[in-house]
Amino acid sequence: MSAPAPAQRKRVAILISGRGSNMTSLIAAAERGDYPAEIALVLSNRPDAGGLATARGRGISTVALDHKQFASRETFEAAMQSALDSHRIEIVCLAGFMRLLTPTFVERWSGKLVNIHPALLPSYKGLHTHERALADGVKIHGCSVHFVAPEMDAGPIIAQAAVPVLDDDTPDTLATRVLAREHQIYPMALRLVASGATRIENGRVLCAGVSTDADAALVSP
Ligand code: GRF
Repeated sequence: MSAPAPAQRKRVAILISGRGSNMTSLIAAAERGDYPAEIALVLSNRPDAGGLATARGRGISTVALDHKQFASRETFEAAMQSALDSHRIEIVCLAGFMRLLTPTFVERWSGKLVNIHPALLPSYKGLHTHERALADGVKIHGCSVHFVAPEMDAGPIIAQAAVPVLDDDTPDTLATRVLAREHQIYPMALRLVASGATRIENGRVLCAGVSTDADAALVSP
């Protein structure tokens, strides 16, 4: 595949609230010359988010907007929007961003706003996904990358990865196994979105030029 010209690479912002390991996986992918996106901004609602220092260390512009300093969700989002505008952002990736977004913001970014969630959606929306999966005794768990819809952890699914749940798993060991797959599928999903390979039809994401092994299966135990 020939490398996209710099002008054709989509300008991406990553929104974080914490350590930013998914952010780091996206930055690493975008450092490859043939990747169709560049990470032009990392924005956090928490000035103490560990990921901000990581991003700065990789030479990426960062913005910290402490949501507690804003009178309302709307004024906080207006400040976010102006940071996104001034960095000419075309795609926004949520990566452990712990603020609910208003329908106005989500609709403004419709089809260009992507999130990663540590469960096989539509199962286990919300928090504590690994604890809940263990409590339910599921044998297979995983993670999802999806376009963001106004409802929490909803929207057309772009990519998913499944992992087995082991008898001696704790929420932490299961989280570690899922996180390794998050780091694999988020860069893959952003590549599909940024290259224009995805389209949404009747709530499903269809991907041009992707072949999936129809016989592949994860069986657990
Ligand atoms: C990840 O598990 C992600 O799926 C969830 O929040 C966590 C963020 O972790 N939305 P990190 O900051 O990317 O390490």
